[in-house]
Amino acid sequence: MKDIEVLVTGKMMPLVMEQLENRFTLHKLNEIGDRDAFLAEFGPRIRAVATGGHAKTDAALMSKLPKLEIVANFGVGYDTVDAAWAGQHGIVVTNTPDVLTEEVADTCLGLLLMTVRELSASERYLRAGKWEKQGPYPLTHNTLRGKTVGILALGRIGKAIATRCEAFGLTVVYHGRNEQKGVSYKYYPTLVGMAEACDILISVAPGGADTFHIIDAEVLRALGPQGVLINIGRGTVVDEGALINALQNKVIAAAGLDVFEKEPHVPAELMALENAVLLPHVGSASHHTRNLMGQLVVDNITSFLSGKGPLTPVAETPWPRKG
Ligand code: 8YV
Repeated sequence: MKDIEVLVTGKMMPLVMEQLENRFTLHKLNEIGDRDAFLAEFGPRIRAVATGGHAKTDAALMSKLPKLEIVANFGVGYDTVDAAWAGQHGIVVTNTPDVLTEEVADTCLGLLLMTVRELSASERYLRAGKWEKQGPYPLTHNTLRGKTVGILALGRIGKAIATRCEAFGLTVVYHGRNEQKGVSYKYYPTLVGMAEACDILISVAPGGADTFHIIDAEVLRALGPQGVLINIGRGTVVDEGALINALQNKVIAAAGLDVFEKEPHVPAELMALENAVLLPHVGSASHHTRNLMGQLVVDNITSFLSGKGPLTPVAETPWPRKG
């Protein structure tokens, strides 16, 4: 398959780069000085794109790759890929579902505990020598005991989080586009309705235009002064300005965030807040899980280019193709 030309949009894990380099002729877009000249010369020969992180695989790029057949995204979320455009132009998009589900759910519960029981703040207190000098860390105002968790987007990861929440003795409710058959958790048809009914709002929602800023000032007001927001999905789902305002003015009690609107930038106002726990998008970030995700990128491209079809196509580009 060495005659097949593949484009990588940014730096990817060695496991991905090495396998793609061994099997195909690989071009690295991030190492190319004159992108336009490169795309004019090599664009018509590229049949696959491997992408991930913050690199965009949009219509502007894909339209310069007329022989493109597959875009393999590293990550279950693929908001950086214009999958609708790809679908309209016969290009398959794949992501990396399932292999990261349990890891992200684990991280979410860790972030929840850190936020509600102030674990990072209390560790900072100990390391600053305050335990010895000033006595015990103050009792936390918040607790998980007796609380209701509202999950926004009860997909694979949402369900793995829900299972863990149940094991912690929490009541679970959910909101999403549709009520799901066979799910025993209470469904709320509106996000505001669920925010009013729950104590802890966990967002697992994907990014993109449909979910942009759906957690806004009104939702945060509905969550209320004892309320906690946890975001493990995508930063763009939350109106970050409204969230900063809500945290500063105690409209909600606290937030635990693994994702941000303009990663890797985190606003100074958020950094300054004691009632925010901030993680650098580490939901799936273990060697174990990232290796599985990387392998799935390679396997999707290899399977597709050897005529066996994609392994994990996204909803916008179903396989076998419709019609
Ligand atoms: C990815 C993620 O590792 O899968 C996702 O959607 O958010 C992460 O787990 C990240 O997007 C890779 O850059």
